[in-house]
Amino acid sequence: MKFEEKYKKDALKLGQVKLSDRQGAISWRSPSNIALIKYWGKRQNQLPQNPSLSFVLDKSFTETRLKYRYKRNKGKMASKIDFIFEGKPNSDFGSRVKDFFLAVSEFLPFINYFDFKIESSNSFPHSSGIASSASSMSALALCLVSMELKLFGTPKDKKAFFQKASFLSRLGSGSASRSVFNGFVVWGKHKNIPGSSDELAIRLNQQFSPKFNSLKDAILITSTGKKKVSSSAGHQLMESHPYAAIRFRQAKDNLLNLLEALKTGDEQMFIGIVENEALSLHAMMMASEEGFTLLNENTWKILYKIRQYRKEHKVFITLTLDAGPNVHLLYLAKQETQIFQFIQKELLQFCENEHWIDDKIGRGPIKLI
Ligand code: PMV
Repeated sequence: MKFEEKYKKDALKLGQVKLSDRQGAISWRSPSNIALIKYWGKRQNQLPQNPSLSFVLDKSFTETRLKYRYKRNKGKMASKIDFIFEGKPNSDFGSRVKDFFLAVSEFLPFINYFDFKIESSNSFPHSSGIASSASSMSALALCLVSMELKLFGTPKDKKAFFQKASFLSRLGSGSASRSVFNGFVVWGKHKNIPGSSDELAIRLNQQFSPKFNSLKDAILITSTGKKKVSSSAGHQLMESHPYAAIRFRQAKDNLLNLLEALKTGDEQMFIGIVENEALSLHAMMMASEEGFTLLNENTWKILYKIRQYRKEHKVFITLTLDAGPNVHLLYLAKQETQIFQFIQKELLQFCENEHWIDDKIGRGPIKLI
């Protein structure tokens, strides 16, 4: 646990706060991300059972403003953390935020000396079926690392800053660790990927085929209902899953092959792996104890339509799925007009209130103040 040990050691220097730093505010915008190689199954303290690969989105993000004020009775009473979501107190997410502060206080002990007011909002509607934990937890982690930088001058450089933000994001939600970088991002150790780690995500710096820089993601919302089984319950089911070992092996192999497809620009290989990952994730759910599915009839109808369209038009179009029934239709920007027509004519009929989000590969988080 290289990073954990380092951050614990660093924490020894993150106690005393100067008088001039006793209140302030920091804001970050942080994106959601979509995994092409899926993380499903964890161990110990939010460590993944297999490496995953994703890219951040552009239009789907969370903006978080963290206001802090020094407590007079420093450290004696628990910090007050008021969490306001889209203008209203939100106790559900508020308690996740409190758990998050508790989890990170080991690495940022100074936070125990402050009370906080956190205001957060998402660019996507609350009930759009898009998971917000990656964007919201990473936005919060970025605010806290910025606070450390303001108060103590650490982490020293940009690389160390985002590494720590990724590490802390992971403690809030595993996939959030991947939201702090742009490009293609890997979280989880793979022996063939130098620098990869279970503790935090890394941006891949190798040369990929430039066409994938123009990836677009049409998020087709088939249902906005609450999930029957949460992601944390799903991760837990992998602990006793009969296919767990095979699945973790498959994800590692798929990751290496996807890197090859990204490098060479091999579209068929990309499509094969990405769809296999999406369906394997959902197959795990079905084959777990008390099997279940998060997919609905319209998810399948869209999937078959996409495959049929690809066959007929010989165009690069594929899909992936999150832990939910909504379809992420992936294609290249140069085919936008054609794909928009396809969505309008053939897919919107399967979306709840014809709802979809026209998103694309994003540029990563932005500091707002
Ligand atoms: O970060 P969590 O615990 O919400 O898990 C997310 C898991 C998937 O979205 C299904 C896959 C992934 O790698 O993002």
